[in-house]
Amino acid sequence: MRITKILITTLMSIITVSNANAQQKLNSEIEKKIDVLMAKMTIEEKVGQMNQYNGFWDVTGPAPVGGTAEQKYENIKKGLVGSMLTVRGVKEVKAVQKIAVEQTRLGIPLIIGFDVIHGYKTLSPIPLAEAASWDLAAIEKSAEVAASEAAASGINWTFGPMMDISRDARWGRVMEGAGEDPYLGSKIAVARVKGFQGDNSFKSPLRIAASAKHFAGYGFVVAGLEYNASEIGSNTLYNQVLPPFKAAVDTGLRTVMTSFNTINGIPASADKYLLKETLKNKWGFSGFVISDWASIREMIPWGYSKDEKSAAISAVEAGTDMDMEGGIYVPHLIELMKQGKVDQKYVDDAVRRILRVKYELGLFDNPYRFLDEKREKEVIGSKANHEAVLDMAKKSIVLLKNEKQLLPLKKSGQKILLLGTLASSKNSPLGSWRIASDNNTAVSVLEGLKNYTGNTLNFVEGPKLTTEEPTFLTEVKYNTTDKSGLEEAKQAAKSADVIIMVLGEHSFSTGEARSRTDINLPGLQEEFLKEIYKINPNIVLVLNNGRPLSINWASENIPAIVEAWHLGTESGNAVAQVLYGDYNPSGKLPMTFPRNVGQIPIYYNNYSTGRYTDKDNNVFWSHYSDAEKTPLYPFGFGLSYTTFDYSDFKINKKSFAKGENIQVSVTLKNTGKYEGKEVVQLYIQDEFASVARPVKELKAFELVNLKPDESKTVSFPITEKELGFYNNQGDFVVEPGSFKIMVGGNSQDLKIIEAELL
Ligand code: NOJ
Repeated sequence: MRITKILITTLMSIITVSNANAQQKLNSEIEKKIDVLMAKMTIEEKVGQMNQYNGFWDVTGPAPVGGTAEQKYENIKKGLVGSMLTVRGVKEVKAVQKIAVEQTRLGIPLIIGFDVIHGYKTLSPIPLAEAASWDLAAIEKSAEVAASEAAASGINWTFGPMMDISRDARWGRVMEGAGEDPYLGSKIAVARVKGFQGDNSFKSPLRIAASAKHFAGYGFVVAGLEYNASEIGSNTLYNQVLPPFKAAVDTGLRTVMTSFNTINGIPASADKYLLKETLKNKWGFSGFVISDWASIREMIPWGYSKDEKSAAISAVEAGTDMDMEGGIYVPHLIELMKQGKVDQKYVDDAVRRILRVKYELGLFDNPYRFLDEKREKEVIGSKANHEAVLDMAKKSIVLLKNEKQLLPLKKSGQKILLLGTLASSKNSPLGSWRIASDNNTAVSVLEGLKNYTGNTLNFVEGPKLTTEEPTFLTEVKYNTTDKSGLEEAKQAAKSADVIIMVLGEHSFSTGEARSRTDINLPGLQEEFLKEIYKINPNIVLVLNNGRPLSINWASENIPAIVEAWHLGTESGNAVAQVLYGDYNPSGKLPMTFPRNVGQIPIYYNNYSTGRYTDKDNNVFWSHYSDAEKTPLYPFGFGLSYTTFDYSDFKINKKSFAKGENIQVSVTLKNTGKYEGKEVVQLYIQDEFASVARPVKELKAFELVNLKPDESKTVSFPITEKELGFYNNQGDFVVEPGSFKIMVGGNSQDLKIIEAELL
């Protein structure tokens, strides 16, 4: 390890960097049109714009309170509906849009929302998996493909990306996010917003408005328990939770969704500080805010609002502009306004924001611009889209272990045995959150491998994974007793050269309302793995999961482990190409893998504490008595079929004045036999600060492709942005002092330079 002391001679004072940002210059033409339209609107029509109904068939939450389908149709005609969700397909969307445009007094078009989470019909890997690629261009492309299919199906707006930072693998929704780190999370949030919205002009009918969710703190629900409260201190709020949202707003994001949770006792949909003061005023967000499903109504059982009327008042005054399927704004806001109990300025601001986004999307110019059946047929499921999601899927795979040179597999002469229910599943690999996609449409690992092995591949299912076929609307029941199939698998194992076992979670035990307290391989799978290992240890374990798992035994004993998540439509092809070396794995974990569930929350950017290490060999230091405190696999970790060497880690200047940039550089060399990609990661620690800082924080990264023997010098500029942090008042400050600058291929194995900023 190379350590250089750098003396920075210039005296730096604390610099407070302002957050104020006018998000977008408003289009004065649009604002004038809104003035004219709003002058004509009745109270009912205004509040109507703030009301969103679920479509008449799919339900992604508790049964709707908005009334029967007939009542909802009637309310659209009365101008009491501004938006619909989960209506989809050109024919269906046209039917509801026609009512709004042709049968209401003012003809204001609906904005159609949908959960386009990781693809529409042609599915990309789950968002957590995509984050493992650290490939921002590929992630942006994936969102663009998703947007194009959704838009072609008549949808104008997605409820994504989810940008909740989370350190809790128990929480099912980690599959929907970008993992634990606010820097990586911000970069990915921006890439996804760009992928959905393009250049924000919406000139193309294949781009849709994005929604940053869930604002805020949902990833910190206590104990990883779904729909629970979040208790978040200011340090965590400003430095971990908010940065991705801020980055997305700065990119031109058009909508934000509130979260289900309370934050320090305030329901997110009533959080004036976050919604009004921070998002809208401080950050200058000019789009609109939608509640999560019935979350305004849920302020009553939370014990915050005593009835529906007070829930309506709290939400609208805080800045929640649209009520998703809560049935609160219509009718209560109308009545409250007529009684003078809600100031008109709140409603006017909300309506202006909603109309603004509708104008920006071109819905007033042509409400049917997204509704073209020919385009729908051409775009959805196109060959190009399949190629894009396959590319994303390969890039999302993380190689966790590769001993005995088991991987890549040899293209001939090996007897391969494939085991596990998930190996032949065409459903689970699609991932959770894929309502527009048809069940059983993924390429299974079995199918993918057959492209390489033909019929020489031997597949034995082994013990069943679940007791019945899981669905999105039921709890997954893992098989814990029925061992039939085990014997056949054991027999087959005897004669195989290599055994590929596909184990993990069914995707329906990940996602919303799928919190778990046990993150080991569920059901009989670990026993299955151990039994096969006794007979033949040449096992490649392919993991299918939507959250970090604690796979200690496997990690210790199984020679090769491939993290293949839930990779979407092209799943099996991606896995096969990686196993056979046609794609050299390049993914890095976006979330720490714990050794056991008791370590959660475990994350790389932790604090040093007053007693970080056991210097004196005594008991009274920060540790567990019954387990190591280190992770099983650290954040940023992932192997390749080749090897990389880091050398010549340098910093270009010995002094640093305000406004100057430091340039650090490192040389990366491919020292192995295969061409491959490495994510070069840069971390910084501010060693002493007015608010104690983490032991390291990711501040930059670069994805580098190298041929064998090839080298590249990677440079990172370090500015105030990388050195500063948010203080407990939410101001971004840069303080003088000493900094450690670290570089490496994961958050644990790092080369360090120390820089003193005096
Ligand atoms: C509830 C989820 O929390 C949210 O993410 C989703 O967008 C809505 N339901 C609509 O389906």
